[in-house]
Amino acid sequence: MPPSGSDVAYLERILMGMGNPLLDIAAVVDDDFLERYDVKLNNAILAEEKHIPMYKELAELPDVKFIAGGATQNAIRVAQWMLQVPGATSYMGCIGKDEFGQEMIKACSADGVNVHYMEDEEHPTGTCAVLVCRGERSLVANLSAANCYKSEHLLEPTNWFVAERAKYFYIAGFFLTVSPESVLILAKHSLTEKKVFMMNLAAPFICEFFTKPLVEALFYCDYLFGNETEAQTFARVQGWETEDLGEIAVKISQLPLAEGKQERIVVITQGGDPTVVAHGGKATFHPVKPISKNEIVDTNGAGDSFVGGFLSQLVQGKDIEQCIRGANYAANVVIQHSSCTYPAKPSFE
Ligand SMILES: Nc1ncnc2c1ncn2[C@@H]1O[C@H](COP(=O)(O)OP(=O)(O)O)[C@@H](O)[C@H]1O
Ligand SMILES: *[C@@H]1O[C@H](CO)[C@@H](O)[C@H](O)[C@H]1NC(C)=O
Ligand SMILES: *[C@@H]1O[C@H](CO)[C@@H](O)[C@H](O)[C@H]1NC(C)=O
Repeated sequence: MPPSGSDVAYLERILMGMGNPLLDIAAVVDDDFLERYDVKLNNAILAEEKHIPMYKELAELPDVKFIAGGATQNAIRVAQWMLQVPGATSYMGCIGKDEFGQEMIKACSADGVNVHYMEDEEHPTGTCAVLVCRGERSLVANLSAANCYKSEHLLEPTNWFVAERAKYFYIAGFFLTVSPESVLILAKHSLTEKKVFMMNLAAPFICEFFTKPLVEALFYCDYLFGNETEAQTFARVQGWETEDLGEIAVKISQLPLAEGKQERIVVITQGGDPTVVAHGGKATFHPVKPISKNEIVDTNGAGDSFVGGFLSQLVQGKDIEQCIRGANYAANVVIQHSSCTYPAKPSFE
């Protein structure tokens, strides 16, 4: 058994994440705004030409907030918050040499995350428009510098030691559009070093258009997270003729797994409905903590914080049941705050 959570030395740098560090530009907008920029509620997409003027308009709204975001970075920050052991987590990704980048370094370091950003000379720090409308949200990401991450950065000795120290790796699928080779480096390292490698389906467009690198990385994946829409998209692309989430989760868990890995556990959330866990060839359903609609501020960050809460328990050697409890606790708190934010300390036992 691993030592208990109070063992600070054991937890130092135990969890490493890698992804797209983005500055979230979040504001409440109306349906007209979404329509003008051709954005569907509840989706997550990459920015196109037609979205260029949207960022300026958003930044000028009176209630606009600028906060450190990015799916993996959010999950790592939430795990760090749950653990309350400074330096238990590390994060890599690429930012620009600009004010936003510096803000991001400050914000994450203040949270206790060890950040090892690559800094790009030519591109500004990436941004993500977070459009909140009727308690739901849509994300439009302009990766800019985040898109410039290179595996050479990961392999530099001053950064590689972070991977060597870590026992758990988490990378949301979004990063497959940026540096699939970095994903595979960590995935293979987890195999040879008997560590835990985890991913997230991230968004329907990842399941649909990045299937090849996704399936390649899944081969090494011990835990896979996602939500119902993503899982169903993945199933459709695989040509599986079922919409049954339990069945889909089990099928994903049974996709080929590298020899030497024991099992792939698949965790699929469905908003307020029970979470599906595929484990040992069957699916179990785990209810979430009910919350009334007027207590929900916005569901932005729900999936990321769910993962963060889960990871915070997993790295302490807790069983799945407790990991799900931690996940639901963290997600429940975050959806009662705007974007992926939370109070100073968790009250989770
Ligand atoms: N309406 C809700 N009621 C209670 N919990 C919720 C609700 N929506 C989200 N959650 C919490 O957030 C988790 C992830 O939500 P989900 O909406 O599936 O994520 P995503 O952001 O990926 O769409 C859920 O499993 C649950 O813990
Ligand atoms: C993305 O950001 C870059 C750098 O700020 C900018 O030049 C480009 O127009 C943006 N693209 C979109 C689609 O918003
Ligand atoms: C799952 O997440 C995607 C974005 O990745 C979103 O489009 C979809 O609405 C979410 N599904 C649910 C049921 O929350």
